[in-house]
Amino acid sequence: MKILAIESSCDETAAAVIEDGRKIISSVVATQVEEHKLYGGVVPEIASRRHCEAINGVISETLAQAEMNLDALDALAVTYAPGLIGALLVGVNFAKGLSLASGLPLIPVHHLRSHIAANYLAHPDLKPPFLCLVVSGGHSHIVEVKDYTEMKIIGKTRDDAAGEAFDKAARTMGMPYPGGIHLDKMAESGDENAFQLPQPKVSGSPYDFSFSGLKTAVINLIHNAEQRGETLPVADLSASFRKAVVDSLTKNFIKAAENLGYKKLVLAGGVSANSLLRKRVDEEAKKRGWSCYYPPLNLCGDNGAMVGAQAYYEYLSGNIADMGLNAAATMSIEK
Ligand code: KG4
Ligand code: ZN
Repeated sequence: MKILAIESSCDETAAAVIEDGRKIISSVVATQVEEHKLYGGVVPEIASRRHCEAINGVISETLAQAEMNLDALDALAVTYAPGLIGALLVGVNFAKGLSLASGLPLIPVHHLRSHIAANYLAHPDLKPPFLCLVVSGGHSHIVEVKDYTEMKIIGKTRDDAAGEAFDKAARTMGMPYPGGIHLDKMAESGDENAFQLPQPKVSGSPYDFSFSGLKTAVINLIHNAEQRGETLPVADLSASFRKAVVDSLTKNFIKAAENLGYKKLVLAGGVSANSLLRKRVDEEAKKRGWSCYYPPLNLCGDNGAMVGAQAYYEYLSGNIADMGLNAAATMSIEK
């Protein structure tokens, strides 16, 4: 089954043709990051306008690279939630128009479910059930993936998402948006024990996260140093911050897997590109004789291929949209 999938939830206009949820036939990503960099973060209205301009070209290019026209497809898919509402609406409305014109069924896809599905494209043997750490710019969840379309959140952030914390800390250290990747690179040459940052603690739920205290601690360290006319060693601070975030993510993820009896661990979302997170979770899994999966770097961030992968399984479970399909800025992965 061949699905043309469309993604426009944030600052990437993307599309892909995917076969049977597992094989990438073509994939095109047009990023707006250079423009948002000027403002230090995504400007929602600019994002919507750029999606509007780019979407037709991205889809034409995706079909051209696949050497297909609409007749060769079996279905269309689109990210409809969660994300920036104006950005999502561009993809949703384009997909509805294309579905109406072509007669192809339209599959609505949840953005975080598609991040998880990026792993199906890279790991042909990977099947649910497994425990997944979904860490992106907007979300940090520990999710029981009981089946392709059956999920349960068992832990989440009480405040900032991991990606958001990385980006804000990086910005305070003078790195360009999105700072997560720059902070990760900078941390490679730093001493992770140089700064003692607070270990985030959350009372009540054993698997929940909190990153805002950590972020504030870094911001305060930098501002206090500035007031004294000093500059802090950015590599050391990056390494200490990265370690604190990764320690917290890894500790809860492993504890959840142990308590719930999962021996298959999966990382997903933009922050799954973090080199220390990949290494640490992999090491902890190996130590226990478990398996660990994460997407290749080109599928960690937003792309259309992951949407097409999840769409296949949504289709098999009977999830087809009608022309009343609307976008939503927030929606639980459990639905
Ligand atoms: O999943 P994603 O592409 O978009 C959302 O759905 O939010 O995630 C983007 C987030 C950004 O916050 C970005 O800084 C972060 O993922 N990110 C990283 C790394 N690469 C991307 N964070 C830490 N280390 C990285 N290597
Ligand atoms: Zn994303």
